[in-house]
Amino acid sequence: MSKASNPFYFESPSDRWSFTDREDLLPQLVTFMSERNRRMLVHGRRRMGKTSLMQNAAKKAGAAFLYCDVSKAASLPELARKLLESAPQAENDGLLSKVLGIAKKHFKTVVLAAGKITLSGELKPDQGTQTLEDVLNYLNEQAGIMDKPWTICFDEFQDIQILMGERAAWQLRGIVQGHRNVNFLFSGSDHRLVKWMTSPDAAFFKQLTQMEVRAIAPAHLTDWIARRAKIGGLARFPYGADIVAIAGPCTGDVVRLAKIVFDLVASGKTDDVVKVAFDAIALGPVNTIAKPGGDCRPERWN
Ligand SMILES: Nc1ncnc2c1ncn2[C@@H]1O[C@H](COP(=O)(O)OP(=O)(O)OP(=O)(O)O)[C@@H](O)[C@H]1O
Ligand SMILES: [Mg+2]
Repeated sequence: MSKASNPFYFESPSDRWSFTDREDLLPQLVTFMSERNRRMLVHGRRRMGKTSLMQNAAKKAGAAFLYCDVSKAASLPELARKLLESAPQAENDGLLSKVLGIAKKHFKTVVLAAGKITLSGELKPDQGTQTLEDVLNYLNEQAGIMDKPWTICFDEFQDIQILMGERAAWQLRGIVQGHRNVNFLFSGSDHRLVKWMTSPDAAFFKQLTQMEVRAIAPAHLTDWIARRAKIGGLARFPYGADIVAIAGPCTGDVVRLAKIVFDLVASGKTDDVVKVAFDAIALGPVNTIAKPGGDCRPERWN
């Protein structure tokens, strides 16, 4: 047998080659990203595939996608800086000089480096909300002169409360409600996020399109596992159905289990490989896989 190369990755969102299914949700997100002035909440259990879906939709839409993971930002100025850095570059000198003009309207200290706008003195830790507001106002105005529609994505949005306090959603609503040139995509896995964003007393009540990312159909995943295993060098890999059944509904758990089974089979083992792999995860140092038929409980705010 030629050397097999494991085609299952569970640590990061899936790229365009390893992404599968979502044929119902993908076109809706592509349409969303191809328009302007829209707001959407993408939610679902942990490890179900929200980030993978959003990132793949952005590629498919060919839209500008300004992505930030709120849970990874240590402060609001850092979040603002990440958004600013993810803004697309102006593609020609004419556009660049317009962008520079807009930047100078919004910020005192604008630096132009390698065709990109950066700020040197603006991102002050004690003025976090103001900084984020300035950056979002600027991005909205810049989006207005660009060809492609822009989507600003706040992933793990529930963590905005850690940075901005309990009134975060209201403050953000105040900032973005006049931003007509950009789409806003909020996403998160916390089961309270939907209520927090959309209940009658919530900031974005009746202002968001909602999308729930649910489990991929078991039969589809079973076929996909066999196809991926073949790409990885194992033409015969009849373990997909067992993997899906034992891993439970979360896509990430399925991929993680498939990865270990693949390694076992590639090393010549065939007996009880799914059970052996499951036990290896369940008894391992970080046990996050769902029990069969179990729930992928949100890990935040528990
Ligand atoms: N449509 C898909 N096709 C193939 N693999 C997928 C798909 N969706 C998710 N995965 C895999 O599942 C894992 C979790 O995906 P992802 O990080 O997108 O989920 P998430 O819902 O954003 O998770 P979290 O709650 O941790 O943010 C990744 O390994 C990813 O590669
Ligand atoms: Mg995610």
